[in-house]
Amino acid sequence: MSGASSKTFAVAITGASGAIYAVRTLRALLADGHHVHLIMSKYGRYVMHEEQGWQADSESILDFLTRVGGDEIRNGTMDEHNVNDLTRAISSGSAPCDGMVVVPCSAKSLSSIAHGSSSNLIERTADVTLKERRPLVLVVRETPMNLIQLRNMVTVAEAGAAVVPAMPAFYQKPVTFEDLGDFIAGRILGLLGLDHELFTRWTGGGGDGT
Ligand SMILES: Cc1cc2nc3c(=O)[nH]c(=O)nc-3n(C[C@H](O)[C@H](O)[C@H](O)COP(=O)(O)O)c2cc1C
Repeated sequence: MSGASSKTFAVAITGASGAIYAVRTLRALLADGHHVHLIMSKYGRYVMHEEQGWQADSESILDFLTRVGGDEIRNGTMDEHNVNDLTRAISSGSAPCDGMVVVPCSAKSLSSIAHGSSSNLIERTADVTLKERRPLVLVVRETPMNLIQLRNMVTVAEAGAAVVPAMPAFYQKPVTFEDLGDFIAGRILGLLGLDHELFTRWTGGGGDGT
């Protein structure tokens, strides 16, 4: 898919466990021909290396995604932005953007977004996404959660964000890590208003559950 149906999304990767959710989301968006503004925090980059084997020193993120996802990644396009560069166009509401996902979203970035800190490009772009009333999806990952984190999730939900805890379902009978990743990626794409075939939708059971 590309051309008239192609949209533009901001994708932020922060330093929580669950880099596979970012990889599966990026693969799906790019394979479908969308344009991605990618922003990674320092610890987001670290976890991508630790969990997904991205060799950041010798390999661009686009080359890594192509290595693991194949050439269909090149259906889409991507700009990578420095998390500390607040001069980028996406830090303004006047830049065209159809929504944003922070995947995975650390408790620290959740807190900053909940309180409108805008102290780096991820926080600022999330702030802009909320003020422009565009879809903002936060894939929060921490366990257990303290009261501060729980309250921060309420705050962002009240401000209009969708909180998608990194909690894949098991009724899909996942076999691989990729199946788990695709479940969360599919929920993200749905919230961004995109159709997908990343998992089979539940169509109801055959009995009364007893
Ligand atoms: C290997 C590793 C795993 C981490 N996992 C989590 C996590 O699952 N959730 C979380 O909230 N923080 C986690 N952290 C801590 C965050 O990376 C840390 O709070 C950092 O300041 C987050 O900053 P950022 O949101 O700008 O990336 C982890 C750190 C490391 C090094």
